[in-house]
Amino acid sequence: MKIAIVEDDINMRKSLEIAMSDYKEFEIQTFKNAKDALKGIDDSFNLVITDINMPGMDGIEFVKTLGGKFEVIIMTGNATLQRAIESIHLGVKDFLLKPFDVDTLIEAIKREDKIQKVKKTLPKTNSDNAASSFYGTSKALEAALKIADKASKTDASILLLGESGVGKEVFASYIHNNSPRAKKPFVAINMAAIPDNLIESELFGFEKGAFTDASEAKAGQFEQANGGTLFLDEIAEMPYGVQAKLLRALQEKEIRRLGSSKGIKIDIRVVSATNANLNEKIKNGEFRSDLYFRLNTIPVNIPPLRERKDEILQIAQKVLEQNCIKYGFDLKTFSDEALKQLLDYHWPGNIRELISVVERAVILSESDEITPQELFLESRVFN
Ligand SMILES: Nc1ncnc2c1ncn2[C@@H]1O[C@H](COP(=O)(O)OP(=O)(O)OP(=O)(O)O)[C@@H](O)[C@H]1O
Ligand SMILES: [Mg+2]
Repeated sequence: MKIAIVEDDINMRKSLEIAMSDYKEFEIQTFKNAKDALKGIDDSFNLVITDINMPGMDGIEFVKTLGGKFEVIIMTGNATLQRAIESIHLGVKDFLLKPFDVDTLIEAIKREDKIQKVKKTLPKTNSDNAASSFYGTSKALEAALKIADKASKTDASILLLGESGVGKEVFASYIHNNSPRAKKPFVAINMAAIPDNLIESELFGFEKGAFTDASEAKAGQFEQANGGTLFLDEIAEMPYGVQAKLLRALQEKEIRRLGSSKGIKIDIRVVSATNANLNEKIKNGEFRSDLYFRLNTIPVNIPPLRERKDEILQIAQKVLEQNCIKYGFDLKTFSDEALKQLLDYHWPGNIRELISVVERAVILSESDEITPQELFLESRVFN
C-alpha cells in the first residue's frame, strides 16, 4: 500500500517516517505542504493522510482539491475539530485526534487496507450513492416531511435547511417525485462543486463562440430542467455576481444563453439547499436578500440525526443488510452494546456518517456479530 502523508510540522513528519519504516508493506512518502502533495501524488497512491492546520492550502481545501480520488485519513487537533467535521461531507471516513501514538495510526492504515481489499473484490458500479429514500421514521422526520408533502403539490420555491448529511438531496428528489412535475426532469446542480467562473454557463448555457472554448452551443441546466424541477444545492456558495442573474431568471421565467440576445421561456420549480447560515451571509454582504426571499417561499428545516434518534437503528439495520448482501457475507447483527453506542453517538456528519460507519463495520468485523470496537466510535474524535 502506497501512502502519502501531508504534515507541515517537521518533527511530526520525521517521527512518522521513522515509525512507519518498520512496516515494509506500507510505502510512505511525506510532503510538507498541500501544494507539494498535489504535485507529487499520482494514481499509484492508495491512501492520503493529512493534517488540517497547515500554512498555505489547509487540509480541507486540499481534500476538496483531490476531488474524491483517494481515500483520506485526517489528523486533527482539538482546535480544528469543527473543520474536520466538514470533511465527512467530502467523503473522509477516518480521523485521528492529535496527539496519537503511532500504533493508532498503524491500526487506521490497516483498517483502510482491509477495506480497500474487500472493496476491490466488488464489480465496479457507479451507483454507490444511488438515490435512496427514507430508511427510517421519527417524529421529527415526519414533521419535516409533512411540510415537504404540502409544498410539493405547489410550484412554490422551497429552501431546504440542515446540517451536512441530513438528507437535503434526498428531500429534494422526494419533493420532485411527489409533485405534479414528477414525470419531467429533475436536474441538480451543486454550487460548491463547480468553479465560480463556470457556474453561469452551467446554469444558462451558451451559444457557439460565446467564449474561446465554446465550439458548440450548449443548453444550461435551466433549459434541461424545463417543465421539471431545478435543485440548486449549496446555494450559499453561489458567487455574488451570478445571484442577480439567477434572481432575474426566476422572476422573468426567462433565460438567455451566454452570447445570445434571445430570451428562452422557462417553466421550472426551484428547490434549493444549504447548510450555511444565510442570514449571516446576507449581513456580511455575501448573499442577496432579494434572492433569499425569492428562494425561501417555503423553508423546510431538516433536523440533524441526533434529534431523530428513532431512525438511527432503523437506518443502521437497513444499511447493514444491504452491505452484507453487497459484500457477499452472511447476514450480520449488531451486539447490544454496539446498538447502544450507535444510539448514544452524536453523529455530526449525520446520515452520511452513519452509513459509512456501518459499511466499515460490516467489512471490518471478524464474526457475525458487530461489536462496539468494530464501529470505531469510541476513538472517533467527535465523540
Ligand atoms: N432518511 C434516509 N434514509 C436513508 N439514507 C439517507 C436518508 N437521508 C439521507 N440518506 C443518505 O445519506 C447520504 C447523505 O444524504 P444527502 O446527500 O441527501 O445529504 P445532504 O443534506 O445533501 O448533505 P450535504 O449537506 O453534505 O450535501 C446520502 O447517501 C443519502 O442517500
Ligand atoms: Mg447535499
